Amino acid sequence: MTITDVMDKFRELYGSEGEIGSFFAPGRVNLIGEHTDYNGGHVFPCALTLGTFGAIRPRSDRKLRFYSLNFGKLGVLESSLDDLVPNKNNDWTNYLKGVMWTFEKRGYKIPGGCDIAIGGDIPAGSGLSSSASLEVLTGIMLRDTFGFTGITNQDLALIGQYSENNFNGMNCGIMDQFASAMGKKDNAIFLDTATLKFEYAPVHLTDAKIVITNSKVKHSLVGSAYNDRRNECEKALKKLQTVVNVKSLGELTADQFENCKDVIMDPVLLKRARHAVYENQRTVQAVSSLKANDIVRFGKLMNASHVSLRDDYEVSCPEIDILVDLAWNYPGVIGSRITGGGFGGCTVSIVKNDAIPGFIESIGKDYKDKTGNTAEFYVVEIGDGVHAL
Ligand code: GLA
Repeated sequence: MTITDVMDKFRELYGSEGEIGSFFAPGRVNLIGEHTDYNGGHVFPCALTLGTFGAIRPRSDRKLRFYSLNFGKLGVLESSLDDLVPNKNNDWTNYLKGVMWTFEKRGYKIPGGCDIAIGGDIPAGSGLSSSASLEVLTGIMLRDTFGFTGITNQDLALIGQYSENNFNGMNCGIMDQFASAMGKKDNAIFLDTATLKFEYAPVHLTDAKIVITNSKVKHSLVGSAYNDRRNECEKALKKLQTVVNVKSLGELTADQFENCKDVIMDPVLLKRARHAVYENQRTVQAVSSLKANDIVRFGKLMNASHVSLRDDYEVSCPEIDILVDLAWNYPGVIGSRITGGGFGGCTVSIVKNDAIPGFIESIGKDYKDKTGNTAEFYVVEIGDGVHAL
């Protein structure tokens, strides 16, 4: 998919007169720090060069017209600025309408409708944040087309998250939208989700690359199960707060947690909280390891992250565990884990350059033999955050 594909379709559908804006917002992969972003912990994602392209032209009436090259069968979906309410029939356009609704709620009154065409190369439901990229893309399209000054890229992330939480009913944290809005080529973002303070960390893997493996198991359960995990963490925190003065699980050190964990009582809540606390510590350690060029330690922390997500947080699935096991046993793999919200989706691995072709062939074959699924592999580059083209 390229912006040219999207622009060509735009002109075919809506005509070529007037000025047409063009934009790109990336998807993301999280290297480590999973399910920590709604627990006041740290995350370490990076923007991909995969993402969503968008073309937009304002209208003088209040009509909205949407078209996605990924959902061509649905044709042009029409709506209006007077109908910014969530509706299942609106399908993928709920993400765009949610962002429009949030703009209006924040006092940025959208002066007129628009024609929009989009197209992306992030597989939907793969855990690489196609929805966050769509939200951040919508934010920049509205900001730049209608001249809303004073909205920063970080604001676009917050607007995207707000719309996802309050319009689309998924209580996600800030990580995905932040990575899409604030990404930087060749860098991962070390973000403290409690304060939104962040630092770019160069990812110079001289003899290795980031390889994403798509299990092709769609993480469709993610909405409800994700919200359940979030509630469980909140319950565990409430119990801990009866004995220790913290605002979030991310504030606890491992020692503090071990000293007061018994107050949680419920074994499931204990596991959830343990993951949140230790995953946050692992993320901080992983970033130090990367800075010290200790990529082997970084990989071990990725592996430990997977074990914790599988056993304590219980957001993996058999197919993903098979992919990760195969990766762990493949020579030249430095680390491998599930990435994103979970219950399917993708794994992220760091693989030595000379092992990559064999990794793809061997794991692809073994995975097919064991599950019947055909995995997809992406050897990825770290790209920039959202931008006009
Ligand atoms: C999803 C959410 C993020 C984050 C991850 C898990 O991608 O959108 O906010 O919680 O899951 O780390």
